Amino acid sequence: MKTNIPAIEGGMPVRDTFLSFHQALLGEEEEASVIQTLRSGWLTTGPKTKQFEAEFAKYAKSEHAVAVNSCTAALHLALVAAGIGKGDEVITTPMTFCATANVIVHVQAAPVFVDVDSVTLNIDVKRIEEKITSKTRAIIPVHYAGCPCEMETILDLAKKYNLVVIEDAAHATETEYHGKKVGSIGDMAAFSFYATKNLTTAEGGMLTTNSDEFAEKVRVLALHGMSKDAWKRYSPEGYQHYEVLYPGYKYNMTDIQASLGLCQLAKIEDFLKVRQRHVASYDKAFKDMDSIVRIGRIPDIKHAEHLYAIILKTELLNASRDRILSALQKENIGVSVHFQSLHLHPYYRQQFGFSEGAFPVTEYAADRILSLPLYPGLAEQDVCDVIEAVKKVIGYYSR
Ligand SMILES: Cc1ncc(COP(=O)(O)O)c(C=O)c1O
Repeated sequence: MKTNIPAIEGGMPVRDTFLSFHQALLGEEEEASVIQTLRSGWLTTGPKTKQFEAEFAKYAKSEHAVAVNSCTAALHLALVAAGIGKGDEVITTPMTFCATANVIVHVQAAPVFVDVDSVTLNIDVKRIEEKITSKTRAIIPVHYAGCPCEMETILDLAKKYNLVVIEDAAHATETEYHGKKVGSIGDMAAFSFYATKNLTTAEGGMLTTNSDEFAEKVRVLALHGMSKDAWKRYSPEGYQHYEVLYPGYKYNMTDIQASLGLCQLAKIEDFLKVRQRHVASYDKAFKDMDSIVRIGRIPDIKHAEHLYAIILKTELLNASRDRILSALQKENIGVSVHFQSLHLHPYYRQQFGFSEGAFPVTEYAADRILSLPLYPGLAEQDVCDVIEAVKKVIGYYSR
C-alpha cells in the first residue's frame, strides 16, 4: 500500500523496481549493424566511421565531421588545432562538466569562467566582454541541457576580439539556433556520444567545422599526427607509407562505435519526439509547484531536450537538495546532478584560487539542481511514477 510518507522516512516507495536515470535505447538494427562490422573483420577506423562522418556532417549541416572517441577529445583537438597554448585564456562557464575546462588546462591555457544566466544556465553573454583580455583566444559556449547559447552575441564578440568559438555541443546534437544547426555556427563544435547522450556509440564524439583547415588538422591530430588517410594502410587499397606531421593523439573512433552511431542517427528525430512528450508531461505536472523552478529557454530555437533539470527552491523546503535526491532514489527513481560548480572542485580551487561567491548564479543553481529521467525508452507510466515521487517527496518536505 502506498502512503505519503517517503520511503526514506519509513514509508513505501512509489515503485517496486528501480527506474534508471538513463538507459540507452538500442534495437535489432544496432545489433545487426555491430555484428556486420564484427564479421567484416575491420574493427577500427574504416568504412563505417567514414560513413558515419558523412551522415553526421549532413545532419549537422556542416562541411566536415571528424569522428573521435569522445567529446572531450573533440574539445581538446579543437583547442590544439586553433593553436591555443601556454599563456592563453579561454572563456567558458563553471556550470558544465569538468571536461570543458580540463581540456583548456591540457593545452596549458587558463580557463576563465563567466557566470551563467539564471533562466537558461547558459553563459551570461552580458558578462563575457568584461572577462576578455589581451590573452583571450577562444570562447567555449556550453549549450546546457540542449538549449543553445545566445550565439549571435558570442559571434559578435568573437569577431570584435578575434576569438575562436568552439561550441560544447555535448548536450546539443539536435539543437538549432535561429534556424541554424548547432555544428555549423561556431568555428568548431564538439558533440558527445557517451552512453547517456541523445545519440550513443557507448563512448564517442564528433567534431564539426566549416573550415577546411581546421578539419584537416583535427583529422591528422586525432590519429597520432600521421598524414591523412594513414588508417587506410591495412585496407585493400594497399599499404602506403605515412608521415608524422605533429605529435598527435590516439583519439580515433572505431567502426564498432560508428555502426552503433549510424543506427542511432537514423532514429534521432523520433527519439526527440518521445522526449518532447515526456518534457511536456513534466512541465504540466510541475508548473504550479512553487518550490520547483524549471530551466527556461530562449525563443526561436530547437531544444535537444537532453536533460530535464529542475531547481529546487530549498528556501521553501525542510530538506536540502541532497536529501531530496536521496529520497527520490529511495522511491526507486534514478536522478542525477548537472552540475556541481566546476570552480569549486579541489583542483580548480587550488590551481586557480576560486572560492565560494565567485559565480553566484552558478552556485545557487548547483546547490539546488536535480535532473530527472528523460530518455526515449521511458514508458508513460514511468513518467507518471517520476511525477508521483517528486510530488510526494516535495510535498512531505514543504515548509
Ligand atoms: C557539457 C559536457 N561537455 C563535455 C562532455 C564530455 O563528453 P564525453 O564524455 O563524450 O567526453 C560532457 C559529458 O557528459 C558534457 O556534459
